[in-house]
Amino acid sequence: MSDTILLERRGRVALITLNRPEALNALNEAMMNEVVDAARELDRDPSVGAIIITGSARAFAAGADIKEMAGQSYLDMYAADWFARWSELARVRTPLIAAVAGYALGGGCELAMLCDFILAADTAKFGQPEMKLGVIPGIGGSQRLSRALGKAKAMEMILTGRTMDAAEAEQSGLVARVIPADQLLEEAFATATTIASRSLPVAMLAKECVNAAFETTLTEGVHFERRLFHSLFATQDQKEGMAAFIEKRDPRFTHK
Ligand code: CAA
Repeated sequence: MSDTILLERRGRVALITLNRPEALNALNEAMMNEVVDAARELDRDPSVGAIIITGSARAFAAGADIKEMAGQSYLDMYAADWFARWSELARVRTPLIAAVAGYALGGGCELAMLCDFILAADTAKFGQPEMKLGVIPGIGGSQRLSRALGKAKAMEMILTGRTMDAAEAEQSGLVARVIPADQLLEEAFATATTIASRSLPVAMLAKECVNAAFETTLTEGVHFERRLFHSLFATQDQKEGMAAFIEKRDPRFTHK
């Protein structure tokens, strides 16, 4: 039984809802453990083809839990390796979508960026306001925001702590799409269902390729992609996908 999240399944799509409304979904240690444990368990389940992480209409998450952190010493933070478990989300192989409405600040913005892509409600507000608290981003914000926005905007966001609205986030490449707030979840489910209707192992390899673009050189990344492309000809889903096209019918992927 989870205290800080809700779990729902619709067909091959799983939904994780952050559920600490009284604290605008501030990310405390319990929530980190529950989100990461849930995502890892769903990742091991081949009947799950896509995972959505969402919050409430008011807040995706207003950051790491400031009240939980405020009294910690350097040694407390170091010994606990505070926030380290969030990095486990980057190793989830099942496609992971953030559906963001309202505040996605500090750790909330970082959690959204840990997902494969962000769908934003028109109410979404992104920011890294840690410097207002005398700290810096701690769940990868300085790295992922810089890759998503480029140096100028990432520097300005982190050094000033200003928030970015959904329209600017879309223009800047932080989010994949902006959706009217009252349609966010339905649209996230529709997108996730499309992804989950395809071959799961192929989606996992596609993720590996896109992620490699942020970790390696162009030559090595293209080589890696081509090797994985070749390897897919060992799958039944490649045979089925191409046969279905030629026979002018919908493919029936078996994830094999
Ligand atoms: N941690 C703990 N509690 C939080 C919180 C947070 N990050 N954000 C909001 N809350 C709590 C508030 O303390 C308040 O609780 P009480 O009712 O018990 O006082 C409740 O949520 C509602 O918040 P507000 O009354 O402040 O709501 P508002 O509408 O006036 O303001 C807000 C909304 C602008 C988002 C404001 O809550 C805010 O600025 N929150 C903090 C944002 C922030 O600094 N985030 C970064 C955290 S540090 C971090 O994330 C480090 C990292 O890199 C991982």
